[in-house]
Order: sequence, then structure tokens, then C-alpha cells
Amino acid sequence: MERPAWAPPGMDLSVPSVSRMYDYYLGGSHNFEADRVAARRAMDAFPGIPKIAQANRAFMRRAVRYAISEGVTQFLDIGSGIPTFGNVHEVAGAASDAARVVYVDNDPVAVAHGRAVLDGDDRAEILHGDFLDPLPIVKSDPVHRLLDLDRPVALMLVALLHFFGDGDEPREKVATLRDALPAGSLLILSHASMDHAPATREQGAELERIYRDGGATFAMRSGEEIARFFDGFPLVAPGLVPMPDWRPESPSDQEDPNVYAGYAGVGRKA
Ligand SMILES: C[S@@+](CC[C@H](N)C(=O)[O-])C[C@H]1O[C@@H](n2cnc3c(N)ncnc32)[C@H](O)[C@@H]1O
Repeated sequence: MERPAWAPPGMDLSVPSVSRMYDYYLGGSHNFEADRVAARRAMDAFPGIPKIAQANRAFMRRAVRYAISEGVTQFLDIGSGIPTFGNVHEVAGAASDAARVVYVDNDPVAVAHGRAVLDGDDRAEILHGDFLDPLPIVKSDPVHRLLDLDRPVALMLVALLHFFGDGDEPREKVATLRDALPAGSLLILSHASMDHAPATREQGAELERIYRDGGATFAMRSGEEIARFFDGFPLVAPGLVPMPDWRPESPSDQEDPNVYAGYAGVGRKA
């Protein structure tokens, strides 16, 4: 089996990871055969996944620029993924010299590659951490070094929460993070959903099954269910909307009907 030099030692390369499947959708090179096989199955089952991933990244960048325009320059990006084109620290750093970013992921490849990309950057760090155990993230050295938790922080949970079933208590974890952040903090969130997807319910169920076969949860939710993640973070305009409709910057953002397979929103802690 291939084992490139950048593969962290001891990692089982035969098990697909959601992080590396996503890297493959985006045309990245930090994935292994098992990731590519699972990703190709997903792409065969569900129309437009690479476009959906790109639309998600485009939302993320618009939301980062929005945060900066609102004076929020600190970012805690959990489930940040394998660094690829247009990362949060690049978009935020281009908009403000004050921007500071802490990335968090539980995938060893995402963390190793993140460390390499951020080497020598004193405004951004990546931490190996688990969203399901949020307090150690808040208390971590990178957060203490880079973020001032007395000032508003943009908490980013972008294309993350659909990897947890309700049994994982993702709402409680979001609430723990919310309680650790001051008023004025933002929640930037996107989440897969069938509500506005042109795909059939069967295609959605098949996609969930492909992730399950790889040992991961994939749980699409309705807009109503996703809105509940914003408890304590009243939504800013235009509210929780299909990803392409969140403050689009060009008509091309809204061109492909497949990219409506997910919601996006930003809320501000009162
Ligand atoms: C689909 S990617 C999204 C990456 C990036 N946020 C974006 O939207 O482009 C989801 C990321 O969440 C990470 N992830 C999954 N479960 C996690 C957990 N329990 N704690 C931290 N990260 C997790 C995966 O490793 C993956 O990198």
C-alpha cells in the first residue's frame, strides 16, 4: 500500500476519512486509495458533490469577510479540514492585519499538513482536538496564545455537524462552546440537508450509507433541525438559507442546482 512521506506514522491508511474524502472532492492530493474509492462511490451516488464542496468553501470565505467587516477578527475553526485553496487565515489575513486563527481537526493528516502550511506564521495555529470534547479546545495553548476570549470570536463549524448523530449530543457541545465565548461572538455554520437538494431521498440515504460503510456518521438534517444549533446565536440576515443564497457575491454562486444541498447561516451571540 502507498505510504507517502507526509502520512503520519501509525495511521491506518485502509480506512477512509471524511477529511481526506473532502480533500479529494476539492481536487487535493492529501488522500489515499481507500479515501478515493469511498469518495468516488459518494460522487456516483449523489450528484454534484465536488460543486457542493466548492460552494461550501465559497460560503465560508464570504462569512469570514463578513466577520471581519463586523470587527470580529478572531477565528476558532473546528473541523477545519486539510488546508486547501482559500483557507480561513488567508482570507481573514488579506482583510485584516489583526486576524488570528486557531484551526482544530481530529484528522492526523489535516493536522500534519496544517502545521506544515502554518510553519513560521505567528497569526495562525492548528490544534489536534475533538469537537466532541470542546473544553480542552477552549483551554488549549494555541487558543490562549492567539485568541482573547474576552473579545468576540467567530466560531466556525463549517460542514462539520452532519458528521454527528443526535446521540453524540452535538447541540450540547455547541452550547458549551457558546458559553465559553463572549457576547458579540459569531457562529458560522453550514450543514448538509436534502430540503432544497434536487437529488432524491434515496440518493441522500445512499450517501449516508457510503459514509457509514467507511465507519463515519453522515446525518443530513432539515432546516428546522439545523436552526436549533443557533440556540443563543440569533441569526443575522439573511438567516439560515441554502448555502449559495447566503450573501452571494456573483450570479455564478447560485448557478448549479446541486449546490442547494445544504444550509448556511451566521448567528451573533446576544
Ligand atoms: C467536510 S470537512 C470540512 C472542512 C472545512 N470546515 C470546510 O468546510 O471546508 C469536515 C472536517 O471535520 C473534521 N472532523 C470530523 N469529526 C471531527 C471531530 N470530532 N473533531 C474535530 N474535527 C472533526 C474532519 O476531519 C474534516 O476535516
